[in-house]
Amino acid sequence: MSRLAKKGVMNIEPYQPGKPIDEVKREFLLDEVYKLASNENPLGPSPKAVTAIKKTLKDLNRYPDGDCYYLKVKLAKKLKVKPDNLTFGNGSDELIAVIVQAFMNEDENAIVADPTFLEYRLIVEAYGRQVMVVPSLNLKYDLDGMRKAINEKTKLVFIANPDNPTGTYISDKEIRKFLEGIPENVIVVMDEAYYDFVDAKDYPDTIRYLNDRNLIILRTFSKAYGLAGLRVGYALSNAELIDCMNRVRQPFNVNSLAQVAALASLDDAAYLKKTREAVLKGKKFLYGALDKMGAAYVPSQTNFILVDVKRDGWELFQKMLKRGVIVRDMKPYKLDSYIRVTIGTDKENRRFIEALKKALKE
Ligand SMILES: Cc1ncc(COP(=O)(O)O)c(C=O)c1O
Repeated sequence: MSRLAKKGVMNIEPYQPGKPIDEVKREFLLDEVYKLASNENPLGPSPKAVTAIKKTLKDLNRYPDGDCYYLKVKLAKKLKVKPDNLTFGNGSDELIAVIVQAFMNEDENAIVADPTFLEYRLIVEAYGRQVMVVPSLNLKYDLDGMRKAINEKTKLVFIANPDNPTGTYISDKEIRKFLEGIPENVIVVMDEAYYDFVDAKDYPDTIRYLNDRNLIILRTFSKAYGLAGLRVGYALSNAELIDCMNRVRQPFNVNSLAQVAALASLDDAAYLKKTREAVLKGKKFLYGALDKMGAAYVPSQTNFILVDVKRDGWELFQKMLKRGVIVRDMKPYKLDSYIRVTIGTDKENRRFIEALKKALKE
């Protein structure tokens, strides 16, 4: 009963994930449905991950390694950091919650942009902490505005770089200037979920700043590594902040299949290369097709594109569902005339364009 909910819980808008394929098949009596709604990797997981999972199935009676030892050591080597600069989560979503639990006192606030990934706000609010929202300018983070919004009660600033749902990014120069102006008692959370897709030359290598600032970088195996269903992400920070996070996270938060799959995926450079190439090729195709249609879109550094359909995006989203293409409705982000589409395989991209053309004419 809602009256039993903690203060503030009933004011939280539940997160609306992308619609699952089976649900759309059931609802619209369709055999073929293409999901381009959750920025997943359309190539499936790495075959090396699948092999590692199969080998581990017989050990499912055991608890997972609570320290993610092998994954941590391997990743630390790859990223040229120390193992104690890393901790893992049940997706980077969980790490956002761990950060809020570990660092935010009751009377402290977190600064978030608008639009940006909605989970920052939802999680901070779920823990009963205050969120301060700084509107973006032309769909790009207003870093000056965010710095000015910091007050004596600010503990966290969340930055998605590149941003979801816009696909825009912040350059190294902009980040450096921003970090220089951040007070010592504020932690900047730099969410780099789409890191592997970026091709902008001036995108920051934020690991360089790990030891000079209170900075936590979040990355995930859900996107470029194709393991969204297993839930594994990681945080990179200085050893002290990582230690604080380890104290509040659940001891077995990353399951054993996720650990071996992530470990094996790190060895599959060919898969990552193929994924990146597919996204860049798909992006080029979609830009070209959208240009031909005269459709407006936001240039993206990610595996998705925000398209301005210049009409009610939710209605268009419904019309596309009927045609078996699931995109993301942007109403929860208050981007009413937009839809967001994940870059898929060649076939999926073509199906998206066909469905979009038809839905726009309807
Ligand atoms: C910016 C951003 N951060 C984090 C996540 C969550 O990723 P994970 O699957 O690791 O929880 C997403 C997923 O869509 C995202 O877009």
